[in-house]
Order: sequence, then C-alpha cells, then structure tokens
Amino acid sequence: MIRSIAGILCLCFASSCIFAQTAPQLGHSPLPEVVKAMTTEEKVKLIVGMGMRIEDLPPGMLPPADPGDDQVPEKVPGAAGRTHAIPRLGIPSIVLSDGPAGVRINPIRNGDSAHPYYATAFPVGTLLASSWDTALVRRVGQAFGKEALDYGIDVLLSPAINLQRNPLGGRNFEYYSEDPVVAGNIAAALINGVQANHVGTSLKHFAANNQEFNRMQLNTHVSERALRELYLRGFEIAIKQSQPWTVMSSYNLVNDTYTSESRPLLTDILRDEWGFKGFVMTDWFGGQHPVAQMNAGNDMLMPGTHAQTEALLAGVQSGVITPAQLDENVTRILNIILLSPAFKHYNYSDKPDLKAHAAVSRAAAAEGMVLLKNKDNVLPLAQSRRIALFGNTSYDLIAGGTGSGDVNKAYVVSLLEGMQAANFPVDAALSNTYQVYIAAQKNHRSKPAMAFLAPPPIAEMPLEETLLQAKAASNDIALVTIGRLAGEGGDRKVDDDYTLTAAELQNLHNISNTFHAKGKKVIVIMNIGGVMDVSSWRDDADAILLAWQPGQEGGHAIADVVTGKVNPSGKLTATFPVHYEDVPSARTFPGQLLHPDDSTAGNPLMGKPAEVSYEEGIYVGYRYYKTFNIKAAYEFGYGLSYTNFSYGKVTLSGSHFDGTPMTATLTVTNSGKVPGKEVVELYLAAPAKMADKPAQELKAFAKTKLLAPGASQTLTFTLSIKDLASFNTAQSSWIADAGNYEVRIGASSEDVRQTATFTLDKEMLAEKVHTALAPQLPLHELHP
Ligand code: BGC
Repeated sequence: MIRSIAGILCLCFASSCIFAQTAPQLGHSPLPEVVKAMTTEEKVKLIVGMGMRIEDLPPGMLPPADPGDDQVPEKVPGAAGRTHAIPRLGIPSIVLSDGPAGVRINPIRNGDSAHPYYATAFPVGTLLASSWDTALVRRVGQAFGKEALDYGIDVLLSPAINLQRNPLGGRNFEYYSEDPVVAGNIAAALINGVQANHVGTSLKHFAANNQEFNRMQLNTHVSERALRELYLRGFEIAIKQSQPWTVMSSYNLVNDTYTSESRPLLTDILRDEWGFKGFVMTDWFGGQHPVAQMNAGNDMLMPGTHAQTEALLAGVQSGVITPAQLDENVTRILNIILLSPAFKHYNYSDKPDLKAHAAVSRAAAAEGMVLLKNKDNVLPLAQSRRIALFGNTSYDLIAGGTGSGDVNKAYVVSLLEGMQAANFPVDAALSNTYQVYIAAQKNHRSKPAMAFLAPPPIAEMPLEETLLQAKAASNDIALVTIGRLAGEGGDRKVDDDYTLTAAELQNLHNISNTFHAKGKKVIVIMNIGGVMDVSSWRDDADAILLAWQPGQEGGHAIADVVTGKVNPSGKLTATFPVHYEDVPSARTFPGQLLHPDDSTAGNPLMGKPAEVSYEEGIYVGYRYYKTFNIKAAYEFGYGLSYTNFSYGKVTLSGSHFDGTPMTATLTVTNSGKVPGKEVVELYLAAPAKMADKPAQELKAFAKTKLLAPGASQTLTFTLSIKDLASFNTAQSSWIADAGNYEVRIGASSEDVRQTATFTLDKEMLAEKVHTALAPQLPLHELHP
C-alpha cells in the first residue's frame, strides 16, 4: 500500500516534471519556440507592464492596472515598474528603476528604519556633462550600474538626453546640453559604464520632449532638419556608440503623432537607420493607442493599465495587430530579459558599497563644476580665511532636482559641513541664525500637491545693515549661495526663478557693498539645475562658482574646488544669455493650450492638449548666438581654471576631404603654475551653399589628463563625412557642400585658439535616410 501511494506520488511528480519540461523554457529552448508556446494572453501580459505604486496620489489620478497586479509582492519597493513573470515558460519579471542621478527606490521597507535601502545621489546630468569627461562619466555609470545590480534592478531608466532648448525647461537638470554632440557622447559613456555591470539602461525621452508644459498632450511642431540635426542627433550618437538595452519613447507628439505611436521614429529611424537592437518602452502612461504603439515598434507599455490589456487583446482578435507584429514586440522584450540579472538569478546583496560610490559622486561633482569668474584670483582660498556663509542653500544644499530624477539618499553634505570639514573657520553665529531661520520656514511652508513635486522655495532672510557690518568686520570672505530647485511636472518661470528674487538681489548687493568697503571679497556659489540670470548681479561678485546640483557629497565637492584641492575644469554645455529675451525660443516657449477656453477640470497628471512650434529651427543655443551675433553672458563651452593652457598649431591629415575621415591633431600645454585639466573643443564652420548654416558647430571634444605645470598632451580629433554634412530636407539626405571648411579648436565657442582649413572639392552625399516626421503645419523658421 505504502509502496503504491509512493508510486502514485512518484508518477504525479514525474508527470508534472514531464509536463513542465514539455513547455519550452526561456534560455533553454530556442526563442522562437518560447514565443510560439506563449498564449495571446501571455504575450499581452509581457507587453503591458506593472508595478508602479505612488503612495500619496489622490484616487482616480491614474488609470487602473490589471486586476490582481497589486497583489503581486514587490521585489524592489519604490522601483518605477516591472514586467509580468510567466513562470510556466521560465520568464522572470524584470525590475525597472529611475533615474538619472541614482537608483530611485524606497529607502525604508516595512517601517524598518534600522535597515535602510538608501541610494547614492550622484550629481545631476547637467553637471556630469559639464565635465566633458567621458571617462569620468563612464566611471559614474559603472558605480551607478553596480548599485542597481546590488539592489535587484534590471534596467535603469537613465540617461535622459533631451536638449536644453530653453533655460526654463523643468527637467533641464536631468539633461546634458543644448548641443547633441555633447549629449550623445556623454550619454554613451554613462550607458557603457552602467551596462558593463550587465544591467540595462533606458535612453530617454525619445524625442523632442524639451519641456514639461502639458507634456502628455503636447504637440511639438518641428522641422525635419531641426529634428535630424538637433533633437534626434544626440540619440543617434548614443545608440551607435553604446546600444542601450532599451529606449523610452516620450510623452509628446511630434508633428501630430505621439512618439510612441510613430513607426517612422521607432522603426524606420531608430532601428533601420541607427541599428538599435533592444526594445522600446513608453514613458509612464504615455501615448493613447496601444495598437498603434505596437505597430509602431513601441514594444512595452509602462507601467501598464487594464485598458491597454483589453485594447491589445481586442486588437489581436480583430487582426489590427498581426500575430507577426505581436511576436516581434515580444521577442524584443525577451531578448533583453535573457540578458538581465533576474534571468540569471543574480543573487543581489541589497548592500551596495555606498561609501565607494559616495567617493565617485564627490569626485565627479568637483570635475563638473564651472568656474565662471575669478577676479584677481580670489580663488582658491587659503584655509585660514574666515568665512561668512550666506544664503539658504549653503545650509540646505540642493543635491538634485525633484520628480523621477530625485534619489532617496541617506544624507546631503551641506556647504557648511563641507567648509568645516576642509578646516575653514566658518562664522558660527551667522550659521546658527540661518539654520534656525530655515527650520522655522520649513515648518510653515505649504506642502506641494504631491510629494513628487518641488516644494516652494524658502525666501532669503532679510540681512540687516548692522549684521552685515559686523560680519564683514569679523570675517575675511563672504560666500553667498544662490539655489534653485525644479523638476518633473512643471517648467520654471522667468520672475524669481530665472531671475533673482528681490530679496536675493538686495542681500547680494548689500553683502557686496559691505564686504568690499572693507576690502574683503565676495564669492557666489550657484547651486542650480539650469541656466539662470547672471547679468543683473555678477558685478557684485569677485568669483562665481557654478556648482550645479552636485549630489549628496556636494558640500565636500564645492570645498574641494574652493580650496584648490581640485582645480576646476568644467565648462558650460549651455549658454548663459545676457537676457532671457535673447533666448531664441523665448517667444514660443512653452507653447499654448489648444482649447484655452475649456476650463473642464482635467486630471493634472494627464494635462491638456497643447502645442509648441520650434520656430528657431536649427538655431538653438550657441548655434543662434554665434550666427546672429548676440553676445552671451557666458558662452557655450566657457569655464575658467586656476591655471592656463596654451594650444599648439593644429595639423590636419590632409588639405582636401576625400570622404575618408580626416584627423586634426594639436598639443595642449599647461602654461600656468598648478596642475590642471583642459577641455578642448573642436568647431567646424562649413560653407553654406544649399542652405543656411550655423556660424560653427561643435563636432568633437576631448579633455586632457591632469597636466602638471609645463606638461603637454597631444590630442587627435576625427571628422567624418557626416560631421561635414547638413540635413537636406528635400532630398532626405545628409549632404556636405563643396567649398572651404574651417576647423576651429579652442577653449570655448568664443575663445578659438587655432584654426586650419580644408576643402571639399565636390558636394558629397553622406547618407540617404527615410523621409519621415514632416511637420503638418507651415513652420515659420528663423533664418539668418
Ligand atoms: C518620467 C520618466 C520616468 C518615469 C518612471 C515619468 O513620469 O517622465 O522619466 O522614468 O516616469 O518613473
């Protein structure tokens, strides 16, 4: 009897094994067999993601997910989303987490604050890009990817490389530059660093998502040329140099079509032209029509809604999605799952080396800060200088922006802590007054509608004349911090944000007068995420350090630069204009509502239908200022050092361009007194035959290693035919005009040190591409 029960059990066990083994298993069976074995419901489950939880959201804000999804236990609480597992076929769930400045997960699980899950806040994207140092950014990527791996993440929703078209873009801090060559190369470095850990990235937001205003329903009217030369170009460079595992389509429409529903964008350009091999996911709740998204090549819908599941099942049934299309979407996702840590059963520790990553964060922060002004070499400061520390963010440093680009970090080193750790005597009474004031203001300030959004700033404390007199008498230096915070869900505004508030202006002016009257110097630290006004106040400062939003180690990193422990080597990746009105998109930013009189209360998360026209065309950033002779306050590519560099003659590999890449070589020497690194920029001025062209465009850049005084480094840059070419819309081609080209190599877009010329004897076709993404409205584009 016993034997026969055992026999039955054994049989059942065996038969279930046999049954399990008959279903193909991911990684063991050929992929087409796994896909073939999937039911339509399973395929749709894989496509429609899951797992986003926002605690403080009022009910009804977000469309409901598939029933039962909220019962599936979270693997990594606070991650942005994940995929459905299909255990029958050996398909695990993969976890996706924000965001550009660090792993974004909940720090506390089940109320247990004794065992937190903090993540490293690295400096924001703009700061990383301002280092112009691809090796450094790769190192940041390596640390960031390792942290993701250690926390059980499969794909990081990073980097974000939309162009900084206008200083007011609410997410500019996450982005890299107004220039696509900088953005694309820096992104490739980050992606290669992260993916070296066998963790994926998601290059976002594809494409032309350059503002937050009604972002989910914003129709961007933009010319094919501006798209090709600017808004797509950074993505193209990054895809070709780094093959991110995934790409995230953007919220907006481009020329009347949602990017997530655009086959020309996601298939013709991204895959056919650029060779992208991974899968495309939507931005969270992005786009409208799941069927159109699948057919366009947007393989995954994040974070997944029940309505999408139903629409896809109906689409398959009615045949508007073909089985072949569905299989293609599913195959692309599975190909990435096969690479994932989850598939490999990676035994993650939940104990990343936060100390090591903090060191990476600190080093990167110091490398990306930009010294804008240094009159009479007031910086670096001798350590005995007595410091009066003014400004709220000296005490409450802004490590990064808000929204999905935020990080739940264990701490932020304030400037006060940084200066104290560097052994500067800091005026304790003044610091105390500020700290008491800030704490009181925080108690009273109103909360943002959602924790996700930026809280209102704390007004600067009025500084009485007597206080200033006393502080100027008892200290040697005034260090004044100006802070700005922005983030997802809103753009910035001109008054009191792009410009200084009246209180900030007044304080700075009074500090400057009082300290200068006593022969003492004033240093301004800009703790900001995006371009802002400098012209109305920069004369009040002897030195200005643009510290950006430098991550959790910010206070130490600023002190490193201020003391000269690190010689600043960052340069601007966006122009600081003299006036906001000088910005070429000032007139059209952020666009307008399509139905301004419709006051129906919409869901604030989903926004309302709106549009924007990119009338400045290709004349964005320095391309505009340089071509139209508009003087900038600080130009693109600008940044000072504590040393000087001399540039030797540039040698080209030929005087005629014959279609094969040309090289430009020169030697840079540290001609000053302290070790330093130099960012060297190569611009090209091309002949304008078939169409108007910017006066010059950045084509390549490099950063020297740390050069001791007197030491040199020889740098070589390469120019390909595509670097010479502009986009010709009528011919859907990149074409290089015949004529003389000038190579300009310099320390900024204005500070050109060496030039050389070559000739292209005959017009040359660089690349023929698809005709795609044409504007549906007449655009009145700017031309010189
Ligand atoms: C943002 C993305 C982010 C996603 C997931 C969206 O609101 O636009 O950048 O990756 O949320 O958090």
